[in-house]
Amino acid sequence: MSLDEDAPAVDAKPISFRCPEKEDGADLIRLVRGTGVLDVNSAYAYMLIGEHHAHTSVLAEIEGEPVGFVSAYRPHSLPETLFVWQVGVAEAGRGQGLATRMLFDILTRPICEDVRYLDTTIATNNDASKTLFRRLAERINANCDVQELFSAEMFENEQAAEHLFRIGPFDTTVIRAQNL
Ligand SMILES: CC(C)(COP(=O)(O)OP(=O)(O)OC[C@H]1O[C@@H](n2cnc3c(N)ncnc32)[C@H](O)[C@@H]1OP(=O)(O)O)[C@@H](O)C(=O)NCCC(=O)NCCS
Repeated sequence: MSLDEDAPAVDAKPISFRCPEKEDGADLIRLVRGTGVLDVNSAYAYMLIGEHHAHTSVLAEIEGEPVGFVSAYRPHSLPETLFVWQVGVAEAGRGQGLATRMLFDILTRPICEDVRYLDTTIATNNDASKTLFRRLAERINANCDVQELFSAEMFENEQAAEHLFRIGPFDTTVIRAQNL
């Protein structure tokens, strides 16, 4: 099944958010493929999201059908930071605030209570992603610092450079209270 063609419009039906499980690896990889933009990593990598990073990741569903996901984790070297690895929303669900809602779903979980920074890397040619994270920073009144992390030459296939967007500091208890 093509998730992009068959995913219902997000505003039409109730949407649910849950932690992905290792059994969701195939759905995650299908969502990633469906974006046509994200790097498609191995099925094994997406199973690891469910196995090791479930509580800092999210799968959005409408009537049991996956419509979006965020994979993220807490790097040991950055104790106050949530690192967002990939965000994907099926074509039919875009432009309705779903990616933002998924990020807030993770940030307002107890496991993120002490998180003060959100880090992500964005390809220099991905305007949608830049707007998503800049708007998120604005919504929570946080700074958004940008610097190159992975240059184009570091990729064997010479893809676009990845810039590190570091959003913060912020207080997740305030975000929770604002009910964003
Ligand atoms: C990027 C992506 C996740 C955004 O999902 P979404 O659910 O449509 O995002 P939201 O509706 O929460 O939008 C957040 C903000 O970004 C803006 N935005 C979203 N898509 C945009 C686009 N294509 N161009 C410009 N701005 C865009 C929205 O207007 C919104 O700003 P606003 O609050 O001022 O209205 C989705 O387009 C996608 O899956 N793209 C392919 C994969 C990808 O690039 N992932 C990100 C890299 S990890």
